[in-house]
Amino acid sequence: MYTPETDPDSTKYLVKAHLTIAIAWLLFGALGGLTLAFRLISPDFAEILHDVTWLNFGRIRMFHTHTVIFGWLSNGFFAFSYYAIPKLVNRPLFLPKLARFNMVFTQFALMLGAIALLTGHAEGVEYAEAPWWADVFFALAFVFAIICNLGTVFTAGNVGQLYVSVWYLILGFTFTALNFIMANTIVAHVAPGAAGAALSGLWIHNAVGLWVTPMGVAIAYYLLPLNVNRPIASHKLSLIGFWTLAILYPLGGSHHYFYSPVPWWLQVMAVPLTSALIFVVYTVVYNFFVTMKGCWGQIADNMSLRFLAFGIFSYIITCTQGPFHALFSVQRVVHFTDWVVAHAHLALFGVFSWWIFSFIYYVWPKLTGQEMRSKVLSEWHFWLTFVGFYIFYYIPDTMAGLMQGFFWLRGLPFIDSLVASQPFWIPRAFSGVMIIAGVVLMVINMWPCEKQEARSV
Ligand code: HEM
Ligand code: HEM
Repeated sequence: MYTPETDPDSTKYLVKAHLTIAIAWLLFGALGGLTLAFRLISPDFAEILHDVTWLNFGRIRMFHTHTVIFGWLSNGFFAFSYYAIPKLVNRPLFLPKLARFNMVFTQFALMLGAIALLTGHAEGVEYAEAPWWADVFFALAFVFAIICNLGTVFTAGNVGQLYVSVWYLILGFTFTALNFIMANTIVAHVAPGAAGAALSGLWIHNAVGLWVTPMGVAIAYYLLPLNVNRPIASHKLSLIGFWTLAILYPLGGSHHYFYSPVPWWLQVMAVPLTSALIFVVYTVVYNFFVTMKGCWGQIADNMSLRFLAFGIFSYIITCTQGPFHALFSVQRVVHFTDWVVAHAHLALFGVFSWWIFSFIYYVWPKLTGQEMRSKVLSEWHFWLTFVGFYIFYYIPDTMAGLMQGFFWLRGLPFIDSLVASQPFWIPRAFSGVMIIAGVVLMVINMWPCEKQEARSV
């Protein structure tokens, strides 16, 4: 049986390198988020930064989303795919030298994008703002990653039935290659006005739904059975969840542009197509819950399982909230408010970042041959992350969003809604400090110490 841990020319280095760099990007990105949060609560702080153009709000906001989505989450997903695919198809990685080269090349492309955004070179496509000369390198890096990952799957010969995580990884890689190229060519340079906006909605939607979601769900499908030591409860439900995601998800992208000049029929159609996604999500989550039946007690000691399980809960909340705020009556209140920012963080941080943390706690001891340094540090990481995010970020920001929406509906001056948001934004800044502190503790916990026994593989 092939295992990356015992392969001499192994992918172990790749997994470690991608994870280490992912965490560095997370820290950079989170510092960006913290700067934004402080700018919004302290006019004095904003005044100090006033003349530093590369630290202005717009640039840091783009830097923040670029670093967390592509630097943190995507490097985390690459680490997972390089670890899991060879194991799941029982074959060493295809073209490992290309993958090693690409590990560095990807960071170069991302760095170029980050520098471009901070120096004011941006395109008007949300979450794909980096200019074309940085995109070309990232697109190439992505193609190399596809060659290595999917090459491993397709050269593995007859491996029988592919494991469900592999389906999701294939989906994520294939759709995203097409989606990224569409966003950075047609949306950025060709499609005008409302047509461009509709396609931009499609890009954002697919970036979160057909990149982040399948890659993250692949992690959950991989880690859950290993952590609870039993197979996934229902293969049929996995199939239903997978195909409904692949078929239904791309159809609802215009829900990002409700009440905009996008054709009305497209907006109306987006409502039922978005609501239908609730079945996709509940199928997956039900499958996870049945698999976990009787094992909940284990989350007390198993940090990987704990992050995974709490991520599943956040997934339920995100994906129940999603169809709800896609209703026109709810959109009238929450569109453009902090409600959406809270939803975005719940999904990208509360679900997918936690699933990557779960992967780190699972895989790091196997890769280094050492246990994490201390259970206490893991507990601190978890509680700072959990309390920091839910109590200090998600709940206040969601309330701020509702309040802003009602202020605007009543036609009150915009500035009044900003002033009224202050008490909700102050905790958000604290949340940033807590989340960053939690990640730093995780890094300390991962730091090698005197030789210990490796965990069994
Ligand atoms: C069934 C599940 C989901 C539904 C129905 C849904 C629906 C929506 C809708 C309607 C919006 C637009 C809100 C507005 O602009 O007023 C939105 C925004 C957003 N969603 Fe979701 N969502 C779901 C799950 C997710 C997941 C899993 C992710 C992440 C992987 C995600 C990430 C985002 C982000 C980042 C935004 C903000 C986009 C922007 O700033 O333009 N959502 N979601
Ligand atoms: C230290 C923790 C963090 C803090 C304090 C923070 C803060 C912020 C702030 C203040 C904004 C701008 C909101 C606005 O324009 O009004 C923002 C946007 C955003 N952040 Fe974060 N953030 C943090 C971590 C993260 C992480 C880890 C992720 C993803 C993994 C993330 C993803 C996003 C996204 C996608 C947006 C755009 C939201 C939208 O357009 O609706 N953030 N963040």
